[in-house]
Amino acid sequence: MADDASWFGVPTPRIDGVAKVTGAARYGSDEPIAHPAFAYLVTSSISRGRIADMKLERAREVPGVLDILHHGNVGSQAKPPPSMTGDKATNTLETDRIEHDGQIIAVVVAETFEAAREAAHKVQVDYAVELPSASFDSSGVTAEPKKQKENPKVGDAASALAGAEVKIDAHYSTPTQHHNPIELFTTTCIWDGPKLTIYEPSQFMWGLKAAVAKQLDMDPANIRTVSRFVGGAFGSRGGTTSRTAWIAIAARRLGRPVKLVATRSQGFTIATYRAETRQHVQLAASRDGKLVALSHEGWEVTSRPSGYNVGGVDTTARMYACPNIATAVNVVHADRNTPGFMRAPAETPYMFALESGMDELAYALNMDPVALRLVNDTQTDPVSGLPFSSRSLTACYDQAAERFGWSRRDHKPGSMRDGDWLIGWGCATACYPTNIAPCAIRLSVTPDGRATVQMAAHEIGTGAYTTIGLTVARALGLKLNDVVVMLGDSDLPPVPVAGGSNNTASTLNVAAKACEQVRDRLAAAAVADHESVFTGADPKGLRLSDGMLVGDNRHEPLAKALGRVTGGALEIHAENVPEGLPPTAIGSLYKGTATMLRGGSRKDVTTYAFGAHFVEVRVNSRTREIRTPRVVSAFAAGNIVNPTTAHSQFMGGVIWGLSSALHEATEVDPKTARYVNNNLADYMVPVNADVPEIDIIMVPEKDERVNPLGVKGIGEIGIVGMNAAVANAVFHATGKRVRDLPIRIEKLI
Ligand code: MOS
Repeated sequence: MADDASWFGVPTPRIDGVAKVTGAARYGSDEPIAHPAFAYLVTSSISRGRIADMKLERAREVPGVLDILHHGNVGSQAKPPPSMTGDKATNTLETDRIEHDGQIIAVVVAETFEAAREAAHKVQVDYAVELPSASFDSSGVTAEPKKQKENPKVGDAASALAGAEVKIDAHYSTPTQHHNPIELFTTTCIWDGPKLTIYEPSQFMWGLKAAVAKQLDMDPANIRTVSRFVGGAFGSRGGTTSRTAWIAIAARRLGRPVKLVATRSQGFTIATYRAETRQHVQLAASRDGKLVALSHEGWEVTSRPSGYNVGGVDTTARMYACPNIATAVNVVHADRNTPGFMRAPAETPYMFALESGMDELAYALNMDPVALRLVNDTQTDPVSGLPFSSRSLTACYDQAAERFGWSRRDHKPGSMRDGDWLIGWGCATACYPTNIAPCAIRLSVTPDGRATVQMAAHEIGTGAYTTIGLTVARALGLKLNDVVVMLGDSDLPPVPVAGGSNNTASTLNVAAKACEQVRDRLAAAAVADHESVFTGADPKGLRLSDGMLVGDNRHEPLAKALGRVTGGALEIHAENVPEGLPPTAIGSLYKGTATMLRGGSRKDVTTYAFGAHFVEVRVNSRTREIRTPRVVSAFAAGNIVNPTTAHSQFMGGVIWGLSSALHEATEVDPKTARYVNNNLADYMVPVNADVPEIDIIMVPEKDERVNPLGVKGIGEIGIVGMNAAVANAVFHATGKRVRDLPIRIEKLI
């Protein structure tokens, strides 16, 4: 494995950057397809009930219409996709039951997109309507404790809370949010005899292939999924959704490729979303600020059949040293589509509550909010008692506070002012578990000094082509330009779901392993060759550098070293199962299941990345308009492979955190359980004018226990805690504590 990490940290432009900005990069629906037909979805306009009658005559009369799929003619031909929680998925065409607004109820296929759309609007549906339940306060919802693994519990939190010197007890809530990646939800299906090719933006090529095979009762070997570039995912493309199988069936019925590009509004209901939460936090401390009790209970909305929840108490229980911890998570079933992963699914809502609560506790103690975090920092996971593999939270606070100028802050709310503007400075902790999963790779090296990497990895905007290319170039002693990186195709070796910020650790560790095997083979052959300059050398001392095999003060060109192996070229197929996972985990990956070694459930160490956010808000004293002129955030996340793309990940997370604090919410109509602002005009997100100066500090951190390359994931940590930092700054500016996101002007009047 890599002997030194000195190559980490060289800022490198994306190797796919030119392809992206010139439009040469092909996203799913860009793939050129011969003679496709076009699909348009018909979705339900009620949230609960039954399809009593579907009149298709007027739709069929539209010139160019080829087929209309609905529960009456294809319902039994596909099983629902496997749900992420192992329970039942919500319906689409399988039955006449409507379980949520915007449920797919028919697929119209036509010669053109326009004809399909026109016909879709001419499908007349008579519903037997039932009264739906929209969310927490609706009648008809049912609640129960979550069914998955136990919630963290340490000591006796109830007694500690009862006897504590200083405590806070507060309720928080976060809204429904939708990812809205710029690339729409698309699916193109092409049959060639028994073989099916699917072009679809996906965060899990092999997972999609396995799921569709199950749904259509096919041999997975007959399915190929292709997704070379993904125009944003954020969790929305991690699980398989219903549309894929229906488009495959449409293409099979027609004997012709079928292409679907769902509309922006349909994306709100045919894919997943971040569910609304309610949370209850109780914190108690002794006068010196040391936590003596932490209690955190959450409630999350889900669909009728699914128990999906994010259960963020797994993380909040581990944030600070505390001897008494109690946690609980409940799910609340409503007539809604099933939620799913969205950037830092668990941490974004749950750290809002914990980090707001920590700020409230700091004020109850009359203590600086940074000092409160530092006095409770720990190198030991308070839940398991295991050491953190590395934890540089204090360094993050120190460096970001210094850059921000925190020492000039007046602790008193409403004490800092600039003319009409009330100034508030707030902070909060960021964190994300470091996860890793099994992974496979094919690596070939040829005498022209080039290497080709092939793996079904996912470029969802993170810069995966470049980080993988950098890793291989460095380990094989080649230039980045001489490494060809091929990703996004299930005909290539499997890679786990690009979720939970695992993919950099998973793909790079297997890539390093494959390169090590190349080196081993070349070194062994060189030493064994009696006519070689390396005769008699220790093979362990040889390495690849600058297109040469070098070591022991000797060297020879790579081409010569390759000449000793069969055919003058090497092809390695390597697999990596992270230590701590069963060896069977690799077999599961080939079957489309990613077994993750999670940051909070390892037996040796607990692995998390940490960070600290500082933000200045300005609240207008007359209008209550909220501005955020500057942010300083520091992160320590192990080895940083490419600071250029890492900076973008951190910054993108911070911007999304501001959005979560001040802008974003999907409005659910309480009467009809339908989404009201299901478009990019009404769904609020920050625009350039809302985005301040963002100063990102990457705190160096060497972690030899997290995984062989010392890489922690960084895709999600940037968003975590930012919402709380803003809420805390708003409190500092105004004295008003907003516990319900997003913070909008009306909540400050
Ligand atoms: Mo990420 S929300 O875990 O795909």
